[in-house]
Amino acid sequence: MGTELSGKVAFITGAGSGIGRAIAHELADHGADVAVNDISPERAELVSKEIVVQGRRAIAAVADISDFEQVQRAVQVASDELGPIDILVNNAGWDTLKPFLQGTLAEYNKIIDINFRGPIFVTRAVAEGMSRRKSGVIISIASDAGRVGSLGEAVYSGCKGGIIAISKSWARELARDHIRVNVICPGLIDTPLLHNLQENDFGRKVIGAITRQIPFGLGRPEQIADAVLFFASPASEYITGQVLSVSGGLTYQG
Ligand SMILES: NC(=O)c1ccc[n+]([C@@H]2O[C@H](COP(=O)([O-])OP(=O)(O)OC[C@H]3O[C@@H](n4cnc5c(N)ncnc54)[C@H](O)[C@@H]3O)[C@@H](O)[C@H]2O)c1
Repeated sequence: MGTELSGKVAFITGAGSGIGRAIAHELADHGADVAVNDISPERAELVSKEIVVQGRRAIAAVADISDFEQVQRAVQVASDELGPIDILVNNAGWDTLKPFLQGTLAEYNKIIDINFRGPIFVTRAVAEGMSRRKSGVIISIASDAGRVGSLGEAVYSGCKGGIIAISKSWARELARDHIRVNVICPGLIDTPLLHNLQENDFGRKVIGAITRQIPFGLGRPEQIADAVLFFASPASEYITGQVLSVSGGLTYQG
């Protein structure tokens, strides 16, 4: 089975930057039309224009994924404009690097809202239609932090671990509706998020130390997008409930 996605519609969260933007381009390259979700209208518009230039249909599906009403509206607009959503990529995420005991409650809540509540809301809004149509693919971008833990990212690691567990549960529940659910765990990928994490001394030290441990060096967003394409396409039609690290040899999971 190949990786052709012609006639498919993908909804990608946080697609205005970094990994999400690369995923949008990769799926469009293989024929998908794309709803470019982002909390930033400017970034969503820009990437959706890039996809149109690529020759596919695209819209900016602006929403804060941690606000269920905004999510429902964006999913409705995407379906009205592009057609039913076949592929959901839960990609949007956010973090700040800080020792757990120095984090504020506001920071904990923001991390939980974006990295855990958000994907739950988006999956709820999109999977209903997939369930009715008895077809769909859901891919969540977690993190190796959710598999092995990570210094200065305790709450984020917990959210990503939660995404891994909830995705396996979604895979079990939704298999009867022919919906596949898989998870990709990036290691360290060169994106604006990774740059922001190094704004303070602690962040620079932690990211520098981890980077030195990666046999293949820092990753590129396109390398995550390649794995997403595999899970989005018929090439993985017999695979569900699985977790794949794409981290250049940083971690080795059983
Ligand atoms: N870059 C890495 O090293 C790395 C490593 C492991 C996991 N990840 C994960 O990969 C995903 C993408 O990260 P990235 O590095 O490309 O980050 P990025 O900051 O470059 O892009 C994230 C995008 O998500 C958007 N976003 C943030 N909050 C949002 C919200 N509430 N609603 C909608 N959109 C929102 C941002 O506006 C931004 O455009 C995240 O889930 C992140 O946790 C990244």
